[in-house]
Amino acid sequence: MHLLWRSRWKISFKTKTPSEWMCPCHYHTGPVVLQSIQKKGRDSQVTRKHRKERSSCPAVLDLFDQQYSEELGDLWPAARAVLLDPHSWQYGVMLNRFSAVTDITQILQSQGFSTLLLQTDVSALLHNGSSMVSRSKRQEGEDCAVSLCDASKFPPCDTPLQSDSTSPVLGQNPQSEPTPSLSIPSLQCYIHSCPLRFPSQAHRPGQLKQYYLLNAASLLPVLALQVKDGEKVLDLCSAPGGKALAILQSANPALLCCNEPDPHRRDWLAKTLESFLPRALHSSVIVSAQDGRTFGQSEAGLYDKVLVDAPCSNDRSWLYSRNIQQGGQRLKERAKLPSLQAQLLKSALSAVRPGGIVVYSTCTLSSFENCAVVETVLDDFPEAELEDLWDEIAVPLSRYFAFSSRPGRGQTTHEPPPQLQNSAGSSYRRGLGILVVPQPGKTWGPMFLCRIRRRK
Ligand SMILES: C[S@@+](CC[C@H](N)C(=O)[O-])C[C@H]1O[C@@H](n2cnc3c(N)ncnc32)[C@H](O)[C@@H]1O
Repeated sequence: MHLLWRSRWKISFKTKTPSEWMCPCHYHTGPVVLQSIQKKGRDSQVTRKHRKERSSCPAVLDLFDQQYSEELGDLWPAARAVLLDPHSWQYGVMLNRFSAVTDITQILQSQGFSTLLLQTDVSALLHNGSSMVSRSKRQEGEDCAVSLCDASKFPPCDTPLQSDSTSPVLGQNPQSEPTPSLSIPSLQCYIHSCPLRFPSQAHRPGQLKQYYLLNAASLLPVLALQVKDGEKVLDLCSAPGGKALAILQSANPALLCCNEPDPHRRDWLAKTLESFLPRALHSSVIVSAQDGRTFGQSEAGLYDKVLVDAPCSNDRSWLYSRNIQQGGQRLKERAKLPSLQAQLLKSALSAVRPGGIVVYSTCTLSSFENCAVVETVLDDFPEAELEDLWDEIAVPLSRYFAFSSRPGRGQTTHEPPPQLQNSAGSSYRRGLGILVVPQPGKTWGPMFLCRIRRRK
Protein backbone atom coordinates (compact mmCIF):
# COMPACT_ATOMS: atom_id res chain seq x y z
CA MET A 1 0.00 0.00 0.00
CA HIS A 2 1.62 3.20 -1.07
CA LEU A 3 -0.99 5.75 -0.14
CA LEU A 4 0.38 8.55 1.96
CA TRP A 5 -0.20 8.26 5.64
CA ARG A 6 -0.52 10.84 8.33
CA SER A 7 0.23 8.28 10.98
CA ARG A 8 2.89 5.65 11.33
CA TRP A 9 0.50 2.73 11.16
CA LYS A 10 0.91 -0.01 8.71
CA ILE A 11 -2.18 -1.45 7.16
CA SER A 12 -2.77 -5.13 7.50
CA PHE A 13 -5.48 -6.21 5.14
CA LYS A 14 -8.00 -8.71 6.27
CA THR A 15 -9.13 -11.35 3.89
CA LYS A 16 -12.71 -10.24 3.56
CA THR A 17 -14.68 -11.13 0.50
CA PRO A 18 -15.64 -8.17 -1.66
CA SER A 19 -19.30 -8.51 -0.74
CA GLU A 20 -18.36 -8.13 2.92
CA TRP A 21 -16.70 -4.87 2.05
CA MET A 22 -20.04 -3.27 1.30
CA CYS A 23 -20.68 -0.37 3.63
CA PRO A 24 -23.60 -0.61 6.02
CA CYS A 25 -24.80 2.63 4.54
CA HIS A 26 -24.61 1.01 1.16
CA TYR A 27 -26.25 -2.37 0.82
CA HIS A 28 -25.37 -5.46 2.68
CA THR A 29 -28.19 -6.32 4.96
CA GLY A 30 -31.38 -8.14 4.33
CA PRO A 31 -32.18 -10.57 1.60
CA VAL A 32 -31.30 -9.15 -1.77
CA VAL A 33 -31.61 -10.29 -5.30
CA LEU A 34 -28.18 -11.49 -6.18
CA GLN A 35 -27.09 -11.76 -9.74
CA SER A 36 -24.14 -13.63 -11.02
CA ILE A 37 -22.86 -12.82 -14.42
CA GLN A 38 -20.84 -15.42 -16.18
CA LYS A 39 -18.20 -13.30 -17.75
CA LYS A 40 -16.20 -16.25 -18.98
CA GLY A 41 -17.20 -16.75 -22.58
CA ARG A 42 -18.72 -13.26 -22.47
CA ASP A 43 -22.25 -14.69 -22.50
CA SER A 44 -23.44 -12.59 -19.64
CA GLN A 45 -26.31 -14.35 -18.07
CA VAL A 46 -28.31 -13.26 -15.10
CA THR A 47 -29.20 -15.69 -12.42
CA ARG A 48 -30.93 -14.89 -9.16
CA LYS A 49 -30.41 -16.33 -5.72
CA HIS A 50 -31.90 -15.13 -2.51
CA ARG A 51 -29.78 -14.59 0.53
CA LYS A 52 -31.01 -15.91 3.81
CA GLU A 53 -34.03 -13.87 4.84
CA ARG A 54 -33.49 -11.70 7.89
CA SER A 55 -36.44 -10.23 9.69
CA SER A 56 -36.65 -6.63 10.80
CA CYS A 57 -36.07 -5.61 14.40
CA PRO A 58 -39.45 -4.85 16.08
CA ALA A 59 -38.06 -2.23 18.49
CA VAL A 60 -36.41 -0.27 15.69
CA LEU A 61 -39.50 -0.52 13.51
CA ASP A 62 -41.74 0.69 16.33
CA LEU A 63 -39.56 3.72 16.89
CA PHE A 64 -39.40 4.51 13.18
CA ASP A 65 -43.18 4.17 12.95
CA GLN A 66 -43.68 6.68 15.74
CA GLN A 67 -41.10 9.18 14.60
CA TYR A 68 -41.37 9.01 10.83
CA SER A 69 -45.13 8.91 10.57
CA GLU A 70 -45.06 12.23 12.42
CA GLU A 71 -42.15 13.70 10.48
CA LEU A 72 -42.92 12.40 7.01
CA GLY A 73 -46.70 12.01 7.15
CA ASP A 74 -48.05 10.32 4.03
CA LEU A 75 -44.58 9.48 2.76
CA TRP A 76 -43.81 7.12 5.59
CA PRO A 77 -46.11 4.15 4.73
CA ALA A 78 -44.55 3.79 1.27
CA ALA A 79 -41.02 4.37 2.58
CA ARG A 80 -41.67 1.77 5.27
CA ALA A 81 -42.88 -0.73 2.68
CA VAL A 82 -39.69 -0.26 0.66
CA LEU A 83 -37.39 -0.53 3.67
CA LEU A 84 -39.16 -3.72 4.73
CA ASP A 85 -38.85 -5.31 1.30
CA PRO A 86 -35.16 -5.67 0.41
CA HIS A 87 -36.21 -7.55 -2.73
CA SER A 88 -37.39 -4.20 -4.09
CA TRP A 89 -34.11 -2.35 -3.45
CA GLN A 90 -32.19 -0.95 -6.38
CA TYR A 91 -28.42 -1.00 -6.81
CA GLY A 92 -26.10 1.40 -8.56
CA VAL A 93 -22.92 0.39 -10.37
CA MET A 94 -20.35 3.20 -10.35
CA LEU A 95 -17.68 2.63 -12.99
CA ASN A 96 -14.02 3.16 -12.25
CA ARG A 97 -12.58 5.57 -14.78
CA PHE A 98 -9.05 4.41 -13.93
CA SER A 99 -9.79 0.93 -15.21
CA ALA A 100 -10.85 -0.38 -18.64
CA VAL A 101 -14.64 -0.66 -18.46
CA THR A 102 -15.76 -1.34 -22.01
CA ASP A 103 -16.70 -4.97 -21.30
CA ILE A 104 -18.58 -4.09 -18.12
CA THR A 105 -20.42 -1.29 -19.86
CA GLN A 106 -21.53 -3.70 -22.58
CA ILE A 107 -22.70 -6.24 -20.04
CA LEU A 108 -24.61 -3.59 -18.09
CA GLN A 109 -26.28 -2.25 -21.20
CA SER A 110 -27.19 -5.73 -22.39
CA GLN A 111 -28.87 -6.33 -19.00
CA GLY A 112 -30.96 -3.16 -19.35
CA PHE A 113 -28.89 -0.90 -17.09
CA SER A 114 -28.54 2.73 -18.15
CA THR A 115 -26.55 5.69 -16.91
CA LEU A 116 -27.94 7.63 -14.00
CA LEU A 117 -26.33 10.93 -14.84
CA LEU A 118 -27.43 11.77 -18.31
CA GLN A 119 -25.77 14.56 -20.16
CA THR A 120 -28.49 17.09 -19.53
CA ASP A 121 -28.72 16.24 -15.84
CA VAL A 122 -25.02 16.67 -15.29
CA SER A 123 -24.60 19.79 -17.37
CA ALA A 124 -27.53 21.34 -15.54
CA LEU A 125 -25.91 20.50 -12.23
CA LEU A 126 -22.55 21.85 -13.20
CA HIS A 127 -23.93 24.84 -15.02
CA ASN A 128 -26.01 25.77 -12.03
CA GLY A 129 -22.95 26.37 -9.84
CA SER A 130 -25.24 28.36 -7.62
CA SER A 131 -28.82 27.35 -7.04
CA MET A 132 -29.74 30.98 -7.55
CA VAL A 133 -28.95 30.67 -11.24
CA SER A 134 -31.61 28.14 -11.88
CA ARG A 135 -34.00 29.79 -9.46
CA SER A 136 -33.82 33.02 -11.42
CA LYS A 137 -34.62 31.14 -14.62
CA ARG A 138 -37.86 29.88 -13.22
CA GLN A 139 -40.99 31.79 -13.94
CA GLU A 140 -42.47 33.70 -11.06
CA GLY A 141 -45.37 31.78 -9.63
CA GLU A 142 -44.28 28.53 -11.20
CA ASP A 143 -44.33 25.79 -8.67
CA CYS A 144 -42.94 22.33 -8.71
CA ALA A 145 -45.14 19.32 -8.47
CA VAL A 146 -44.25 16.92 -5.72
CA SER A 147 -41.47 14.74 -6.98
CA LEU A 148 -42.63 11.58 -5.39
CA CYS A 149 -42.83 8.55 -7.52
CA ASP A 150 -46.00 7.18 -8.94
CA ALA A 151 -45.00 3.56 -9.42
CA SER A 152 -47.45 3.18 -12.29
CA LYS A 153 -45.45 5.71 -14.30
CA PHE A 154 -42.33 3.59 -14.19
CA PRO A 155 -41.14 1.65 -17.17
CA PRO A 156 -41.67 -2.07 -16.93
CA CYS A 157 -38.76 -4.27 -15.98
CA ASP A 158 -36.11 -4.66 -18.62
CA THR A 159 -36.94 -1.30 -20.14
CA PRO A 160 -33.87 0.88 -19.72
CA LEU A 161 -34.48 4.27 -18.18
CA GLN A 162 -34.38 6.90 -20.85
CA SER A 163 -33.85 10.60 -20.70
CA ASP A 164 -37.47 11.62 -20.80
CA SER A 165 -37.39 15.09 -22.19
CA THR A 166 -41.17 15.25 -22.23
CA SER A 167 -41.56 14.16 -18.65
CA PRO A 168 -43.91 16.39 -16.66
CA VAL A 169 -41.98 15.61 -13.50
CA LEU A 170 -41.82 18.74 -11.37
CA GLY A 171 -43.57 20.67 -14.10
CA GLN A 172 -40.22 21.57 -15.56
CA ASN A 173 -39.85 22.72 -19.11
CA PRO A 174 -36.79 20.99 -20.56
CA GLN A 175 -36.32 23.90 -22.97
CA SER A 176 -35.44 26.10 -20.03
CA GLU A 177 -32.54 23.86 -18.99
CA PRO A 178 -29.16 25.45 -19.51
CA THR A 179 -27.45 24.32 -22.68
CA PRO A 180 -24.57 21.96 -21.99
CA SER A 181 -21.44 24.02 -21.92
CA LEU A 182 -19.13 21.90 -19.82
CA SER A 183 -17.58 18.60 -20.63
CA ILE A 184 -19.39 15.52 -19.33
CA PRO A 185 -17.82 14.43 -16.07
CA SER A 186 -16.35 11.00 -15.85
CA LEU A 187 -18.57 9.98 -12.98
CA GLN A 188 -20.67 7.19 -14.44
CA CYS A 189 -23.19 5.20 -12.50
CA TYR A 190 -25.42 2.58 -14.07
CA ILE A 191 -28.81 1.78 -12.61
CA HIS A 192 -31.71 -0.47 -13.48
CA SER A 193 -35.38 0.25 -13.06
CA CYS A 194 -35.74 -3.20 -11.46
CA PRO A 195 -34.11 -4.34 -8.26
CA LEU A 196 -31.33 -6.26 -9.99
CA ARG A 197 -28.02 -6.49 -8.24
CA PHE A 198 -24.81 -6.72 -10.16
CA PRO A 199 -22.30 -9.04 -8.47
CA SER A 200 -19.48 -7.56 -6.42
CA GLN A 201 -16.16 -7.80 -8.19
CA ALA A 202 -13.54 -10.12 -6.76
CA HIS A 203 -9.99 -8.95 -6.20
CA ARG A 204 -7.96 -9.26 -9.38
CA PRO A 205 -4.23 -9.35 -8.63
CA GLY A 206 -2.42 -6.57 -10.43
CA GLN A 207 -5.64 -5.12 -11.79
CA LEU A 208 -7.88 -2.33 -10.59
CA LYS A 209 -11.51 -3.00 -9.91
CA GLN A 210 -13.85 -1.83 -12.62
CA TYR A 211 -16.88 -0.83 -10.57
CA TYR A 212 -18.22 -0.15 -7.10
CA LEU A 213 -21.73 -1.04 -5.96
CA LEU A 214 -23.62 1.61 -4.03
CA ASN A 215 -26.92 3.20 -3.24
CA ALA A 216 -27.12 5.74 -6.05
CA ALA A 217 -28.33 8.38 -3.59
CA SER A 218 -24.79 8.30 -2.17
CA LEU A 219 -23.67 10.21 -5.23
CA LEU A 220 -25.79 13.24 -4.41
CA PRO A 221 -23.56 14.62 -1.62
CA VAL A 222 -20.61 14.27 -4.00
CA LEU A 223 -22.45 16.16 -6.73
CA ALA A 224 -23.36 18.86 -4.22
CA LEU A 225 -19.70 19.22 -3.28
CA GLN A 226 -18.84 20.33 -6.86
CA VAL A 227 -15.18 19.37 -6.62
CA LYS A 228 -12.99 20.99 -9.26
CA ASP A 229 -9.60 19.92 -10.55
CA GLY A 230 -6.76 21.16 -8.35
CA GLU A 231 -8.83 21.64 -5.19
CA LYS A 232 -7.97 20.39 -1.73
CA VAL A 233 -10.72 18.15 -0.43
CA LEU A 234 -11.36 16.60 2.97
CA ASP A 235 -13.61 13.55 3.39
CA LEU A 236 -13.99 13.79 7.16
CA CYS A 237 -15.78 10.46 7.80
CA SER A 238 -14.48 8.40 4.95
CA ALA A 239 -14.71 4.63 5.44
CA PRO A 240 -15.35 2.51 3.55
CA GLY A 241 -14.62 5.08 0.86
CA GLY A 242 -17.55 5.02 -1.57
CA LYS A 243 -17.89 8.79 -1.66
CA ALA A 244 -14.11 9.29 -1.78
CA LEU A 245 -14.09 7.11 -4.89
CA ALA A 246 -16.97 9.08 -6.37
CA ILE A 247 -15.06 12.33 -5.75
CA LEU A 248 -12.08 10.92 -7.61
CA GLN A 249 -14.29 9.80 -10.48
CA SER A 250 -15.66 13.31 -10.90
CA ALA A 251 -12.52 15.46 -10.65
CA ASN A 252 -8.77 15.50 -10.13
CA PRO A 253 -8.27 17.18 -6.75
CA ALA A 254 -4.75 18.28 -5.87
CA LEU A 255 -5.32 16.58 -2.53
CA LEU A 256 -7.99 14.29 -1.15
CA CYS A 257 -7.63 13.61 2.56
CA CYS A 258 -9.71 10.58 3.60
CA ASN A 259 -10.14 10.63 7.37
CA GLU A 260 -11.37 7.68 9.41
CA PRO A 261 -10.64 7.17 13.13
CA ASP A 262 -11.92 3.59 13.43
CA PRO A 263 -8.94 1.28 12.73
CA HIS A 264 -10.94 -1.57 11.19
CA ARG A 265 -12.93 0.71 8.98
CA ARG A 266 -9.75 2.54 8.05
CA ASP A 267 -8.25 -0.77 6.85
CA TRP A 268 -11.36 -1.24 4.78
CA LEU A 269 -11.04 2.30 3.40
CA ALA A 270 -7.39 1.79 2.47
CA LYS A 271 -8.26 -1.47 0.76
CA THR A 272 -10.99 0.25 -1.25
CA LEU A 273 -8.66 3.02 -2.36
CA GLU A 274 -5.93 0.58 -3.26
CA SER A 275 -8.28 -1.56 -5.35
CA PHE A 276 -9.60 1.35 -7.38
CA LEU A 277 -6.84 3.93 -7.75
CA PRO A 278 -3.74 3.80 -9.93
CA ARG A 279 -0.38 4.38 -8.30
CA ALA A 280 -0.07 7.76 -9.96
CA LEU A 281 -2.92 9.01 -7.77
CA HIS A 282 -1.57 7.67 -4.51
CA SER A 283 0.53 10.77 -3.87
CA SER A 284 -2.55 13.00 -3.91
CA VAL A 285 -4.70 10.77 -1.69
CA ILE A 286 -3.97 10.77 2.04
CA VAL A 287 -5.49 8.46 4.63
CA SER A 288 -5.76 10.15 7.99
CA ALA A 289 -6.86 8.79 11.37
CA GLN A 290 -8.01 11.79 13.40
CA ASP A 291 -11.12 12.23 15.43
CA GLY A 292 -13.15 14.34 13.03
CA ARG A 293 -14.38 16.52 15.90
CA THR A 294 -10.94 18.07 16.35
CA PHE A 295 -9.82 18.02 12.73
CA GLY A 296 -10.90 21.60 12.16
CA GLN A 297 -8.63 22.86 14.92
CA SER A 298 -5.55 21.08 13.65
CA GLU A 299 -6.07 21.97 9.98
CA ALA A 300 -8.06 25.19 10.11
CA GLY A 301 -8.99 26.77 6.80
CA LEU A 302 -6.87 24.40 4.71
CA TYR A 303 -9.50 22.84 2.46
CA ASP A 304 -11.57 24.10 -0.47
CA LYS A 305 -14.24 21.46 0.05
CA VAL A 306 -15.18 19.27 3.01
CA LEU A 307 -17.59 16.34 3.01
CA VAL A 308 -19.12 15.30 6.34
CA ASP A 309 -20.85 12.00 5.63
CA ALA A 310 -21.64 11.61 9.27
CA PRO A 311 -22.10 8.49 11.38
CA CYS A 312 -25.87 8.22 11.75
CA SER A 313 -28.81 5.97 12.54
CA ASN A 314 -28.52 4.30 9.13
CA ASP A 315 -32.17 3.35 8.83
CA ARG A 316 -31.76 0.51 6.35
CA SER A 317 -29.10 -1.25 8.33
CA TRP A 318 -30.59 -0.64 11.77
CA LEU A 319 -33.94 -2.05 10.72
CA TYR A 320 -32.14 -5.34 10.12
CA SER A 321 -30.15 -5.36 13.35
CA ARG A 322 -28.65 -8.78 14.03
CA ASN A 323 -30.83 -9.36 17.08
CA ILE A 324 -33.06 -7.55 19.57
CA GLN A 325 -30.07 -6.73 21.78
CA GLN A 326 -28.17 -5.04 18.97
CA GLY A 327 -31.30 -3.12 17.92
CA GLY A 328 -31.88 -1.98 21.53
CA GLN A 329 -28.27 -0.93 21.97
CA ARG A 330 -28.36 1.10 18.77
CA LEU A 331 -31.53 2.87 19.84
CA LYS A 332 -29.91 3.77 23.15
CA GLU A 333 -26.92 5.27 21.37
CA ARG A 334 -29.12 7.10 18.91
CA ALA A 335 -29.72 9.98 21.28
CA LYS A 336 -25.99 10.78 21.30
CA LEU A 337 -25.68 11.06 17.54
CA PRO A 338 -26.93 14.63 16.97
CA SER A 339 -24.32 16.02 19.35
CA LEU A 340 -21.51 14.09 17.61
CA GLN A 341 -22.83 15.13 14.20
CA ALA A 342 -22.98 18.80 15.19
CA GLN A 343 -19.39 18.65 16.45
CA LEU A 344 -18.26 17.06 13.19
CA LEU A 345 -20.06 19.69 11.14
CA LYS A 346 -18.56 22.52 13.18
CA SER A 347 -15.12 21.00 12.80
CA ALA A 348 -15.67 20.80 9.03
CA LEU A 349 -16.62 24.47 8.92
CA SER A 350 -13.34 25.28 10.66
CA ALA A 351 -11.36 23.09 8.25
CA VAL A 352 -12.78 24.77 5.15
CA ARG A 353 -11.27 28.01 3.85
CA PRO A 354 -13.37 31.19 3.71
CA GLY A 355 -15.44 30.91 0.53
CA GLY A 356 -15.18 27.10 0.60
CA ILE A 357 -17.97 24.57 0.80
CA VAL A 358 -19.05 21.95 3.33
CA VAL A 359 -21.57 19.26 2.46
CA TYR A 360 -23.23 17.47 5.36
CA SER A 361 -24.97 14.17 4.67
CA THR A 362 -26.52 11.20 6.46
CA CYS A 363 -28.38 8.07 5.42
CA THR A 364 -31.21 8.44 7.93
CA LEU A 365 -34.65 10.00 7.63
CA SER A 366 -34.45 11.34 11.18
CA SER A 367 -34.85 15.11 11.35
CA PHE A 368 -32.96 15.10 14.66
CA GLU A 369 -29.82 14.03 12.79
CA ASN A 370 -30.51 16.10 9.71
CA CYS A 371 -32.20 19.50 9.84
CA ALA A 372 -31.90 19.85 13.61
CA VAL A 373 -28.12 19.37 13.44
CA VAL A 374 -27.77 21.88 10.63
CA GLU A 375 -29.95 24.38 12.46
CA THR A 376 -27.88 24.06 15.65
CA VAL A 377 -24.61 24.56 13.83
CA LEU A 378 -25.85 27.51 11.78
CA ASP A 379 -26.92 29.22 14.98
CA ASP A 380 -23.33 28.97 16.27
CA PHE A 381 -21.62 29.83 13.03
CA PRO A 382 -22.55 33.27 11.70
CA GLU A 383 -20.07 32.96 8.83
CA ALA A 384 -21.88 29.85 7.53
CA GLU A 385 -24.35 30.36 4.71
CA LEU A 386 -26.79 27.69 3.64
CA GLU A 387 -27.24 27.02 -0.09
CA ASP A 388 -30.46 25.70 -1.56
CA LEU A 389 -30.02 22.40 -3.37
CA TRP A 390 -33.58 21.95 -4.50
CA ASP A 391 -33.35 23.50 -7.96
CA GLU A 392 -29.80 22.33 -8.44
CA ILE A 393 -30.19 18.68 -7.49
CA ALA A 394 -33.73 17.67 -6.61
CA VAL A 395 -35.33 19.11 -9.74
CA PRO A 396 -32.99 17.68 -12.40
CA LEU A 397 -32.71 14.29 -10.72
CA SER A 398 -36.32 13.83 -9.65
CA ARG A 399 -36.91 11.28 -12.36
CA TYR A 400 -34.65 8.89 -10.44
CA PHE A 401 -35.06 9.88 -6.81
CA ALA A 402 -38.04 10.72 -4.62
CA PHE A 403 -37.38 13.88 -2.64
CA SER A 404 -39.39 14.85 0.39
CA SER A 405 -41.03 18.03 -0.82
CA ARG A 406 -40.28 21.37 -2.29
CA PRO A 407 -38.69 23.89 0.02
CA GLY A 408 -40.90 26.94 0.31
CA ARG A 409 -40.18 29.73 -2.11
CA GLY A 410 -37.75 32.22 -0.67
CA GLN A 411 -37.23 30.11 2.43
CA THR A 412 -33.63 29.31 1.75
CA THR A 413 -32.37 30.67 5.02
CA HIS A 414 -32.66 28.71 8.21
CA GLU A 415 -35.12 31.22 9.60
CA PRO A 416 -38.50 29.47 9.55
CA PRO A 417 -41.56 31.43 8.51
CA PRO A 418 -44.03 31.76 11.39
CA GLN A 419 -46.58 29.35 9.91
CA LEU A 420 -43.99 26.53 9.82
CA GLN A 421 -42.33 27.07 13.12
CA ASN A 422 -44.29 24.46 15.01
CA SER A 423 -44.76 22.04 12.19
CA ALA A 424 -43.01 18.69 12.55
CA GLY A 425 -40.73 17.90 9.66
CA SER A 426 -41.10 21.39 8.24
CA SER A 427 -37.37 21.93 8.14
CA TYR A 428 -37.01 20.39 4.69
CA ARG A 429 -39.54 22.88 3.41
CA ARG A 430 -37.42 25.60 4.95
CA GLY A 431 -34.55 24.63 2.70
CA LEU A 432 -32.25 23.27 5.37
CA GLY A 433 -31.38 20.45 3.02
CA ILE A 434 -32.94 17.88 0.75
CA LEU A 435 -34.09 14.44 1.76
CA VAL A 436 -34.28 11.37 -0.51
CA VAL A 437 -37.10 9.17 0.75
CA PRO A 438 -37.28 5.61 -0.62
CA GLN A 439 -40.52 5.05 -2.49
CA PRO A 440 -41.78 2.19 -4.65
CA GLY A 441 -39.96 2.30 -7.99
CA LYS A 442 -37.48 4.89 -6.64
CA THR A 443 -36.06 2.95 -3.78
CA TRP A 444 -32.84 4.98 -3.40
CA GLY A 445 -32.05 6.54 -0.06
CA PRO A 446 -32.58 7.42 2.70
CA MET A 447 -30.14 10.25 2.10
CA PHE A 448 -30.12 13.74 3.54
CA LEU A 449 -27.76 16.40 2.26
CA CYS A 450 -27.21 20.06 2.73
CA ARG A 451 -24.53 22.45 1.52
CA ILE A 452 -23.04 25.26 3.57
CA ARG A 453 -20.66 27.89 2.27
CA ARG A 454 -18.28 29.63 4.61
CA ARG A 455 -18.49 33.34 3.92
CA LYS A 456 -15.33 35.07 2.76
C1 LIG B 1 -21.65 6.93 7.12
S1 LIG B 1 -20.09 6.32 7.39
C2 LIG B 1 -19.16 7.06 6.09
C3 LIG B 1 -19.35 6.41 4.76
C4 LIG B 1 -18.35 6.89 3.72
N1 LIG B 1 -18.38 8.33 3.59
C5 LIG B 1 -18.59 6.28 2.38
O1 LIG B 1 -19.20 6.90 1.51
O2 LIG B 1 -18.17 5.13 2.17
C6 LIG B 1 -19.56 7.27 8.76
C7 LIG B 1 -18.13 7.02 9.18
O3 LIG B 1 -17.79 7.97 10.19
C8 LIG B 1 -16.88 7.35 11.06
N2 LIG B 1 -16.80 8.11 12.32
C9 LIG B 1 -17.38 7.83 13.51
N3 LIG B 1 -17.02 8.74 14.43
C10 LIG B 1 -16.19 9.62 13.82
C11 LIG B 1 -15.45 10.76 14.25
N4 LIG B 1 -15.52 11.19 15.52
N5 LIG B 1 -14.70 11.40 13.34
C12 LIG B 1 -14.64 10.99 12.06
N6 LIG B 1 -15.30 9.90 11.59
C13 LIG B 1 -16.06 9.22 12.47
C14 LIG B 1 -17.41 5.96 11.19
O4 LIG B 1 -16.40 5.07 11.68
C15 LIG B 1 -17.86 5.65 9.77
O5 LIG B 1 -16.86 4.99 9.07
